[in-house]
Amino acid sequence: MCGIVAYLGSREAYPILINGLHRLEYRGYDSAGIALLDGGLQVYKAKGKVSTLEHKINGRKLHSHIGVGHTRWATHGEPNTSNAHPHKSNNQKLAIIHNGIIENYDVLKRALIERGYHFDSETDTEVLANLIEDIQKNEQTDLEEAVRIALNQVTGAYAIVVLSEEDPDMLIAARKGSPLVVGIGDNEFFIASDATPFVEYTKSVIFLEEEDMVIIRRGEDIKLKTIKNKVKTPYVEALEMDLCELEKGGFDHFMLKEIFEQPRSIKDSMRGRLNAESGIVSLGGIIDYEQKILHAERIIIVACGTSWHAGLVGEYLFEDLARIPVEVEYASEFRYRNPIISEKDVVIAISQSGETADTLAAINLAKEKGATIIGICNVVGSSIARATDAGSYTHAGPEIGVASTKAFTAQVTILTLMALRMAQLKGTIPVSKWRELLFELESIPGKVERTLANGELIKQLAYEFKDVRNFLYLGRGYNFPVALEGALKLKEISYIHAEGYPAAEMKHGPIALIDNEMPVVFIAPSKGIYDKVVSNIQEVKARNGKVIAVVTEGDEVVRGMADYVIEIPETEEIFTPLLATIPLQILAYHIAVLRGCHVDQPRNLAKSVTVE
Ligand code: G6P
Repeated sequence: MCGIVAYLGSREAYPILINGLHRLEYRGYDSAGIALLDGGLQVYKAKGKVSTLEHKINGRKLHSHIGVGHTRWATHGEPNTSNAHPHKSNNQKLAIIHNGIIENYDVLKRALIERGYHFDSETDTEVLANLIEDIQKNEQTDLEEAVRIALNQVTGAYAIVVLSEEDPDMLIAARKGSPLVVGIGDNEFFIASDATPFVEYTKSVIFLEEEDMVIIRRGEDIKLKTIKNKVKTPYVEALEMDLCELEKGGFDHFMLKEIFEQPRSIKDSMRGRLNAESGIVSLGGIIDYEQKILHAERIIIVACGTSWHAGLVGEYLFEDLARIPVEVEYASEFRYRNPIISEKDVVIAISQSGETADTLAAINLAKEKGATIIGICNVVGSSIARATDAGSYTHAGPEIGVASTKAFTAQVTILTLMALRMAQLKGTIPVSKWRELLFELESIPGKVERTLANGELIKQLAYEFKDVRNFLYLGRGYNFPVALEGALKLKEISYIHAEGYPAAEMKHGPIALIDNEMPVVFIAPSKGIYDKVVSNIQEVKARNGKVIAVVTEGDEVVRGMADYVIEIPETEEIFTPLLATIPLQILAYHIAVLRGCHVDQPRNLAKSVTVE
């Protein structure tokens, strides 16, 4: 949450910062601001989106070759201009941008007020700005040392960048619990929450580690150390990201583009890992841990949001195919409930961003107790990817729409590959059946493509249902998590109340909601316990509910009962989530568009939740 971008070099800083903020807007969009050294420290801020800031600045000729920018997801203080970053210290000479939460800000603030400081905002960030100023003044230190001392006094999480009028050729950045990456160009430097703001300028990056501090001076090499003053050698990595991955490519929204990318993203997640012809499933990243997973007493999957739903599919896959017991936990609950974990457990952490604070904390807890940690992440070099013992990247490419789509199907793909590999090693499935499954999995991207072809029909359904107030999503077995995910997509982006339920549980509550205005989406592919789902559909029809059913192509039984059907190609039951999710994403998308919602940046949500 909150996007950070900073620049030092010979180009004009403003266009780099503003474009960078647009790319980082998925991290938060309550307010935005920039600070430049343009004949002194100049700060411009606006409530709302980055485009509002841009309009406010419009026409001014800003000249600076150094600057910082921020887009905010509010934690301390409501989203307004005074709470927007950058924050200046009282002497007006220092500006700071911050992502995270300073937990002891109140104590520090009171002490600073006693020493005569005043505050213009309700933020924890302004406290840090004044703390740095205070230390610099009282301890007669330079800015670098003042920032370092201040960071040793704060508890909580932060990624910060400091800009000072008194050191016009220097930026100082540091991180703990929130990501920061430094881009190194030709006599120019970029600092950002992720590499998206500077991908067109450089592919050489340094991912800062926990408690790292970087000091960037014009004309000098980067200086890297920890906040405990231990000097480090920067490790420069090459970025694998292309500019076109960050553009809408002709689609109206990133979310739609990402939905339509799924044949490719699923294929990329399988590339080099699956070869049905040769009978190979191999995930290079976890090869050294296969025996550990195979003999695990339990697999515990920890995740949040959509990734948690992928984890639920994983539970079905691992138990069904490889007969390994699995528990799926909300990371936020797991970390606080004194869970029983031992060295015999394997924890699989799933995260698109690789930065989710609760998931990271759950990993650290499980690590302390000796469990082996496997990661499934989309963002290369992310905090979660680094915190795990081993893992597999999803290779879905950057996901920019706040509501997760292609990351989900990529996560399910990786879980499927892992479960199939474990089944092979364990011999839990007859070899001929196992080979059949591999061939079928290879055909899934093509079947996703066919499913996407139903887009227009689903759009018509969206017209029909755009004004309803409630939706129910029901599925069983592998498609129970799909029901949860379908409901989550709809509520995230259209703000319609939607609930996902195991279809049979409907009788224990949600059935009371059903009347002739209540749409009920059934995920009813003709595999698994199909007959039971058909009975559940009848129960809804008997109460005049409106049924939208996701069915296997050619299913005349459900077609005869449901009000609307959306077809998906026939596949094995274990692969149905990869197909059945697609129409639900499209339905949510079109309903949200018709309701005039901001699809890519839904209200109150952020894509990367780096606070708990
Ligand atoms: C936020 C996003 C969701 C995402 C969840 C977990 O709530 O809006 O789309 O599923 O975080 O994020 P992660 O990056 O850990 O998968």
